[in-house]
Amino acid sequence: AIERTLSIIKPDAVAKNVIGQIYSRFEAAGLKVVAARMAHLSRAEAEGFYAVHKARPFFNDLVEFMISGPVMIQALEGENAIAKNRELMGATNPKEAAAGTIRADFAESIDANAVHGSDAPETAANEIAYFFPASQVFSR
Ligand code: CMP
Repeated sequence: AIERTLSIIKPDAVAKNVIGQIYSRFEAAGLKVVAARMAHLSRAEAEGFYAVHKARPFFNDLVEFMISGPVMIQALEGENAIAKNRELMGATNPKEAAAGTIRADFAESIDANAVHGSDAPETAANEIAYFFPASQVFSR
C-alpha cells in the first residue's frame, strides 16, 4: 500500500553536508519527498517528539543531541514507505547496520545515527502531524 513516513536527517548528517546524498537514496528507492523543512528544534519540541522514550536511560542524551544543531525534517510517500525507509536507514546502532545503508555510510554512534524514521503506521501519522499541518503535505 502507499504509505507516508516521517524522516529526520539529524544534526550529525546535516553537519556532514550529506542531505542531498540521503535524499538521493530516498528517490532512488521510489520514495517521494511530500513535505520538508529545516529546523533547529527547541528542547520542548525534541522532548515532545521523543516523549515515548521519556523513561529510557538515553533520553537526555538523545534530546541534547537532537537540539545540538539544525535538522532536516521530511515526510516521504511511496509503496511500503515505512519499511522501505527503515531498510534504507539500517539498524539503529550504526555498528550493526548493514553495508550500504545510510547509517553504515554516514553515522558514527547510536546517538549520532544520522537519521530517524517512523516505525509503524500509527507513529508515522502522529510524527508527520507533529511537524507538518495537513496543508503543508503535498501528496503526489
Ligand atoms: P531514533 O530512531 O531517532 O529513535 C530514538 C533514538 O534514540 C534512536 O534513533 C537513537 O539515536 C537513540 N538511542 C540511543 N541509545 C539507544 C538505545 N539503547 N536504543 C534505542 N535508541 C537509542
